[in-house]
Amino acid sequence: MKKQLIALCFALLPCVVLAAPSNYPLEKANIDLRDKAALQDGARTFVNYCMGCHSAQFQRYERVANDLGIPDELMLENLVFTEGTLIGDHMKIGMRPQDSKVWFGGAPPDLTMVARVRGNDWLYTYLKTFYEDPSRPFGANNMLFPNVGMPNVLMELQGRQVIGCKAMPVMDGNTPKRDPLTGETIKDEQCDVLTVLPDTGTQTEAEFDTTVRNLVAFLAYSADPIKLERHRIGVYVLLYLAFLFVFAFLLKREYWKDVH
Ligand code: HEC
Repeated sequence: MKKQLIALCFALLPCVVLAAPSNYPLEKANIDLRDKAALQDGARTFVNYCMGCHSAQFQRYERVANDLGIPDELMLENLVFTEGTLIGDHMKIGMRPQDSKVWFGGAPPDLTMVARVRGNDWLYTYLKTFYEDPSRPFGANNMLFPNVGMPNVLMELQGRQVIGCKAMPVMDGNTPKRDPLTGETIKDEQCDVLTVLPDTGTQTEAEFDTTVRNLVAFLAYSADPIKLERHRIGVYVLLYLAFLFVFAFLLKREYWKDVH
């Protein structure tokens, strides 16, 4: 039995190794779910750049409009593109999974819950690390998801990102190391570094970071729409318990006063 178990472990080893996540460092998304303007911007990016392929079918347009403070008419006019869609409909798309599987090698998954599965930092880093790779069918690859089937859909905003060798500051913890004599930062050539070619995108680096952060905030909201409400109710519950404690304590003192 023991031998069989060991054999099984070795048989499974290749799967574990193949599924090992990329060890590319994750960048912090630092989203703020209370920022409604950011969530609205994220929703706009989502319907414009993602819903061509991905649905959010466990979410309704109406719920998004209410939660994000968007009037229903504005939502229908600006964020719903399919003819005949009603405000109460789920955020589905027209592309059929069997078709997209043929086109992209894998069907684009529904994104309603993706923030819970992957985490916000993963999504943020994933969306920022597409780079040019002529060997791929759509000319794009990704640092976190090697050989990804998804094209680089945000390229017009970010610009053309390429991978290569570049002189990078040598780090000592979080601060760049400096030459003690000249005071200049010490640089060292590193490879597999991403660079955005200047003036190839419509947004600056900081603007693109904000676009992606807001998009991730929208996906995080969509994966857990009542999170904000839960926090608000939680505060009241704790206040109530604190209030109750005072009376419970006074009552206890009253009961025990004659017992000694
Ligand atoms: C042209 C179609 C297309 C568009 C547009 C598109 N994607 Fe994708 N996406 C895909 C495909 C195909 C996959 C599956 C990749 C694979 O399995 O190799 C994918 C995978 C993903 C994944 C990985 C899911 C997982 O957990 O494995 C995420 C996250 C994602 N897309 C987010 C987005 C976001 C956000 C946008 C909008 C900015 C977007 N996609 C726009 C086609 C698309």
